[in-house]
Amino acid sequence: MIKGFIFDLDGVITDTAEQHYVAWKRLSDENGWKFDREVNDRLRGISRLDSIKVILQYNGILLDEKTMGNLATQKNVNYVESLDDVTPDDFLPGAKELLTHLRTEGFHVALGSASKNASKVLQQLNALGYFDVIGDGNSVPESKPDPAIFLYGSDKLGLQPDECIVFEDAESGIDAAKTGGFYSVGIGPEERVGHADLRFDTMADATLFEIKSYFKDLF
Ligand code: BG6
Ligand code: MG
Repeated sequence: MIKGFIFDLDGVITDTAEQHYVAWKRLSDENGWKFDREVNDRLRGISRLDSIKVILQYNGILLDEKTMGNLATQKNVNYVESLDDVTPDDFLPGAKELLTHLRTEGFHVALGSASKNASKVLQQLNALGYFDVIGDGNSVPESKPDPAIFLYGSDKLGLQPDECIVFEDAESGIDAAKTGGFYSVGIGPEERVGHADLRFDTMADATLFEIKSYFKDLF
């Protein structure tokens, strides 16, 4: 039986991909690296340090861990500053409605995000009240596609993985959910999240009615 839901943040609850893009672009420009939206899309779901490794590899540059860490911190300062502009109007369409519905029906809800800035984003959205558990980039050392962040969420909710549905917009996030033994809902195109149990183009399509209809034997 499904008793809980675990949500990724960026690309599911709100769309911070643009702010990430601007901050990585600024760092890349300052360092004379190539960076574009196609590369930015490859950073979906992966940690800050893994992201800079992807950018450097794209540019054919090798740096030591300490320098990479410093550069990633520099990007983060700009990113965090831009989060001041996030407001409660910045939920992705449908996300707030689904979270409200889950609360009304008494489901347990956790966040399972790779971001170390998740609490700040949730505060800006005024969304902390929708979650019983916050799992973020500070909760576990492993990154998606490792299932650790979702297992952290289900464990803190007191549920088994097969009692939870994970919501994800990243390929690595769906991989993580499947490896961990969770049911999964993918948000986005077939090429990216087509391997989820159920897929919607946008959060606006992901109503509790649709979810219950699909996973009907589990409710
Ligand atoms: C994920 C984003 O939610 O968080 C990634 O999809 C990002 O693009 C990752 O790299 C880490 O975020 P932060 O806020 O810790 O730099
Ligand atoms: Mg995401």
